Amino acid sequence: MFDGSIAAGCAPAAGAQNPRSIAEVVRMVNTLEKPLELPCFLAHLAGPLQMTAALSTASAQASFDRRSPRIFVFLDPLVFTVVPEGSGRDLLEFGERRGDARSLKGEIAFPVTSELTPGAPFEHIIFNEQYSTCAFCHADETRAPDIPFARAFESLALRPLDKAVISLDELRSEVRSCDAESDPYRCAMLHALFDRDGVIQRDFPESYGTL
Ligand code: HEC
Repeated sequence: MFDGSIAAGCAPAAGAQNPRSIAEVVRMVNTLEKPLELPCFLAHLAGPLQMTAALSTASAQASFDRRSPRIFVFLDPLVFTVVPEGSGRDLLEFGERRGDARSLKGEIAFPVTSELTPGAPFEHIIFNEQYSTCAFCHADETRAPDIPFARAFESLALRPLDKAVISLDELRSEVRSCDAESDPYRCAMLHALFDRDGVIQRDFPESYGTL
């Protein structure tokens, strides 16, 4: 069980470059000590991060609470998403941008206890022979031709509704007031993202659709 602390060993390595694809996330996870908790992975990301936070009432990482929105981090062309509490809180979800309005999908469940295969993020979301679990909401799903080593899918990319977006200033005050005694995991997630040189508001591409 997560004890609420982000260990000193979770800091970014000197000169570390952030991953920009699902494949690079797998390589990074494999270099880090196991068991690896999601807040520790996030704390390993270097430098300023560009992100959007939003309520998410219909996703695999639902958030109905302004204090714990779904957070979308942009490591172009990769977007990953996390949510500090709720049933999706141990998931790192990916949408690696493909063209104007599509993304390659993948997901890693934490804690990670052993080395991941390159195919693991794609195998984790398989629903049946034909579809991934993401296809229920992300329409127009097709096999990703550039991932020959796994059954990988790309589909329409989605962005939050404007009215669901929560400003990073509002979220920053949640980080400051977070009580690690009563809310260890949520606080660790928020601190891992916000305790860094810069957190920059980033809008989604207009070309992404909404649900
Ligand atoms: C129940 C509907 C639903 C399911 C199932 C779902 N999503 Fe989403 N997803 C959304 C919605 C809605 C958005 C827009 C942002 C928001 O409201 O959270 C979104 C946005 C995203 C984004 C942001 C950009 C992009 O590339 O689309 C990613 C990444 C993402 N989802 C990953 C996934 C993955 C991976 C899966 C499958 C494991 C998945 N989603 C399954 C509803 C869903």
